[in-house]
Amino acid sequence: MATDGKIIKCKAAVAWEPNKPLVIEEIEVAPPQTNEVRIKIVATAVCHTDLHHLLETQEKDGFPVVLGHEAAGIVESVGPGVTEFQPGDKVIPLFISQCEECRFCKSPKTNQCEKAWVTPESRFTCKGKKVLQFSGTSTFSEYTVVNQMAVAKIDPTAPLDKVCLLGCGICTGYGAAVNTAKVEPGSTCAVFGMGAVGLAAVMGCKAAGAKRIIAVDINPDKFEKAKEFGATDFVNPKDHSKPVSKVLSEMTDGGVDFSLECVGNVGVMRSALESCIQGWGVSVIVGWTDLEDFSARPVQLIAGRTWKGSAFGGFKGKQDVPQMVKKYLDKKIKVDEFITHTMTLDQVNDAIELMKQGKCIRTVMTVSSQ
Ligand SMILES: NC(=O)c1ccc[n+]([C@@H]2O[C@H](COP(=O)([O-])OP(=O)(O)OC[C@H]3O[C@@H](n4cnc5c(N)ncnc54)[C@H](O)[C@@H]3O)[C@@H](O)[C@H]2O)c1
Ligand SMILES: [Zn+2]
Ligand SMILES: [Zn+2]
Repeated sequence: MATDGKIIKCKAAVAWEPNKPLVIEEIEVAPPQTNEVRIKIVATAVCHTDLHHLLETQEKDGFPVVLGHEAAGIVESVGPGVTEFQPGDKVIPLFISQCEECRFCKSPKTNQCEKAWVTPESRFTCKGKKVLQFSGTSTFSEYTVVNQMAVAKIDPTAPLDKVCLLGCGICTGYGAAVNTAKVEPGSTCAVFGMGAVGLAAVMGCKAAGAKRIIAVDINPDKFEKAKEFGATDFVNPKDHSKPVSKVLSEMTDGGVDFSLECVGNVGVMRSALESCIQGWGVSVIVGWTDLEDFSARPVQLIAGRTWKGSAFGGFKGKQDVPQMVKKYLDKKIKVDEFITHTMTLDQVNDAIELMKQGKCIRTVMTVSSQ
């Protein structure tokens, strides 16, 4: 490859500071170092966690940064020590690494790799300044450098402009239902928040054999999609004067067997817990926030409910993401149906605006040609 071992100058969307539009800049991407892989990003989508970093955190030192973590691309070159990947491989970058060596990777109980939240050194510079990496992936760029433990090699026939969504939202929601909640056949479920994560949770509940799936959202425009994914009932908390947990409890003779919070709001987390039936109800927190603590009455848990959390749907990325790609190719899971808009990376601020206004499920942006 002509670019092998050289600095690549390319286009990226840089977030210079919080709460400001991203700026399309020419950046320099250094060659991959030991155990690193440089990836040409073909397609990337916007997830609410990108918005969270840009608009909702108080951290000023998280900038300038290249956001984006839901993507697919092609390996351009590899650094020393990389044997598993070759230029031309189709890959999905992982925001939770799988080093395969730590005690968490060795346990079948979790996907929380010890190295997962260690921020790797960024290989980006722009106008002489270091630009940070986000989620270990930074996919709003034509090229990015990722540690090999955070890369999944996928089927070479997979359409990258579709399977990019398996890099976060779909796996997160689907896995939260199937792996974390362990939804049972014949059960009644409630999913709070009908973004891509919540819709994927609905899809997971259905795949696990749930008999009744109640979609909860304050934006009724989302209910049509929810039905397409398998929701059987719809509740808009704004239509009721009593708490939504009470509404669900009355609809289900005491509460749902499983609830999933896919919003990222501590009040909704509490409602989701309180919507579960005593004795065996399981509630899973999927939505992300680090601004506030949550609260609940101890009796909720004492009475036999279980409160859990789920990151990336409990999937171990390197081994499980290629399986999810296969499931999509075998038509066992939906992916195309999540895509409501397609754009190019230049339009990233429009894509962010659509999500802010609740007008999209996922916007897939073309970054480079395949
Ligand atoms: N745990 C993980 O690994 C992980 C991974 C990806 C995303 N997330 C988080 O999941 C959440 C959802 O992400 P997304 O990309 O689907 O976001 P999104 O913005 O597309 O969807 C959120 C949905 O929640 C609805 N909502 C807002 N307030 C509500 C309320 N009070 N009650 C009911 N519904 C409400 C919105 O109308 C919207 O439909 C975010 O918090 C995101 O950061 C977590
Ligand atoms: Zn995400
Ligand atoms: Zn590990």
